[in-house]
Amino acid sequence: MPDDTEIRDRMDRLASEIVRHQTLYYLKARPEISDKEYDRLFDELLRLEREYPGLAAQDSPTKRVGSDLDNEFPEVPHRIPMLSLDKVYAEEQLLEWIEKIKKDTDRPLSFVVEEKIDGSTIVLHYENGVLVRAVTRGDGFVGNDITENVRTIRDVPLSLTEPVTAVFRGEIYLNLSDFERLNREVDNIYANPRNFAAGSLRRKKSAEVARIPLRSFVYEGFFDDLALREHIAVLHRIFSLGFRVGKDIGFFTPDDAGSYGAIFDDHPEWVHRRLEDLPGYIAQKKEGRSSLDYEIDGLVVKADDYQLRNRLGSTSHHPRWAMAFKFEAPQAVSVINAIEVQVGRTGRVTPVARIEPVTLSGTTVSNVTLHNQDYIKSLDIAVGDRVAVTRRGDVIPAVEEVLQKNNEGYDTFDMPERCPSCRTSLVIEGAHHFCPNRDCPARVYGKLSFFCGRGQMDIENLGGETIRKLMDLGLVRDIPDIYRFDPKDLLGHEGFAEKKVALIREGIAGSKKKPFSIVLASLGLDEIGPKVTELIIEAGYTSIDRLIEDAKKGDPGLFTRIEGIGPKIAKKLIDQLGDPEVIAVIERLKEAGLKLSAEEGETIRISDAFAGEVWCVTGSFDLFKPRELAMEEVKKRGGKVASSVTGNTTHLLTGENPGSKLEKAKKLGVAIVTEQEFTARLSG
Ligand code: IVH
Repeated sequence: MPDDTEIRDRMDRLASEIVRHQTLYYLKARPEISDKEYDRLFDELLRLEREYPGLAAQDSPTKRVGSDLDNEFPEVPHRIPMLSLDKVYAEEQLLEWIEKIKKDTDRPLSFVVEEKIDGSTIVLHYENGVLVRAVTRGDGFVGNDITENVRTIRDVPLSLTEPVTAVFRGEIYLNLSDFERLNREVDNIYANPRNFAAGSLRRKKSAEVARIPLRSFVYEGFFDDLALREHIAVLHRIFSLGFRVGKDIGFFTPDDAGSYGAIFDDHPEWVHRRLEDLPGYIAQKKEGRSSLDYEIDGLVVKADDYQLRNRLGSTSHHPRWAMAFKFEAPQAVSVINAIEVQVGRTGRVTPVARIEPVTLSGTTVSNVTLHNQDYIKSLDIAVGDRVAVTRRGDVIPAVEEVLQKNNEGYDTFDMPERCPSCRTSLVIEGAHHFCPNRDCPARVYGKLSFFCGRGQMDIENLGGETIRKLMDLGLVRDIPDIYRFDPKDLLGHEGFAEKKVALIREGIAGSKKKPFSIVLASLGLDEIGPKVTELIIEAGYTSIDRLIEDAKKGDPGLFTRIEGIGPKIAKKLIDQLGDPEVIAVIERLKEAGLKLSAEEGETIRISDAFAGEVWCVTGSFDLFKPRELAMEEVKKRGGKVASSVTGNTTHLLTGENPGSKLEKAKKLGVAIVTEQEFTARLSG
């Protein structure tokens, strides 16, 4: 039996090894051990901490995994108020500001230029080198304690390289590539990475935050000993303590400025130039903005000299020693007239802001989704607030920020406790509120209009208003009723003459020809959309009966063996397709004559990526055995295949020991594709 000291030693050693490997992996992108070896270290530490909770260190790297317990976010006052930044949109205004400051000092004037990363502000408190508290900006005077969530962020050090007691400020953000991938998974509900990051930081369960690859960068540090008097030196120190500092730091000094050799030797990517080069640098940064993998909305120009900073001081709104240079003027500005909640087919309750109509990239916007309670809290949105509304790319319009709080006494909007449609108590899952009542009229309406809608069963003449009427008349209560009711019963009601009724009947009859894949995806089951449907049919579930049979077995492994289906979707398949109520609906649809199995020989199209191409194959392959499997992949993507190379052939897939087809293809100028290139195209 080892004694406490031995165990503690082992835990300490594991912790420092893990931290070293995390730094190598996340900060330096130079891992030394495999993921598996890393997991082994991690699991051992986790096990020891569970067994000996009294010995677990507060800064243990296991804290990164987060917890499933609900977080509270107590309010914490900021010792140094978190002011905003004054901002300019043009170079002349920036130069004017610099001229004004020049008048205030007779010392050589230097500026640091940092990127203004568009994320969520964070204040980090360290005591003796250990992260003890992380607080949001809040209203600038009081923020929320979100320490548990911040501990899960890989590049926020849990302990520093030196035992300093200090406060740091920085930004938590999400890379654009991560944002795009994750936002797609949640139906693109967030307008931008900033809103996504802000929403994530407010998640109640830190284990959920841990799954989001949030990143940080730190741009200010407040140390107890005041030996550092220049911002460039503070940034250098922040970096050496183990934080991520902006990669692109610009330092602008007059000609005769002193020597900063050591700092720039450590940071070859930082730029040291003369003050007159500042405009050129700004133009260059503006130009390079689109090639960054994170969003910056401008630059921050800061006086380097702390003595000067102190002399300049602050207004009640912003410090006089810093200026944001914003790349773009704000977009549409509007006022929130009301906030209402809508219940969708899955029961998800979504708050929607009714705003004073504004034009945004050519269309009038009067409704803006506010997504969920976390989102509302993170931006602190209330009725009557003046807000900036944007629409980036073709993403739905979104509130970017509150520009001015209402003075009518409205508080931050709170989600109701009961469903506005059926009065059932709402339940919270992850970031969202849900109405759990399956018979809730709002849910039924959502389910019916989804089923009949475009892209699903596409039943013409069965739009929202008709569905509403059918529900009001008690003719349709669930999906199968669409195939039961007699459209004649609509006759005589306003807007339903003979002609319309006949069209409805035709539309419904026509929908019975829709293939199995469409019927299945139209049921509106959670997570079971077109993509998942295709994957499972391709994997051999060519009829609903086979699928239900396996779902009833309750073994997720049956589904997770299908590439592209993870444990979450497997569970949804089991829960929903094993549910007697869902099965009853499916049985009734079968009786009505809908297609609930795939037709013989039906090739399932997954994309048009190979459309217009004619492929031929020669040689043998590692992955595709027999090689016809490769040609199946071509067909699934809309390509044609041929058994010999002719003038029509566009591509030849070439494996080991190719035959005469290769020579012929070369002569005809056909594209020669290796197995590796082929698989790369399949996955990308
Ligand atoms: S310095 C007194 N530096 O911009 C305020 N802020 O309007 C000192 N931000 O939410 C702020 N990058 O989180 C500073 N390099 C940077 C920044 C930065 C982003 C954010 C900050 C705050 C907002 C200020």
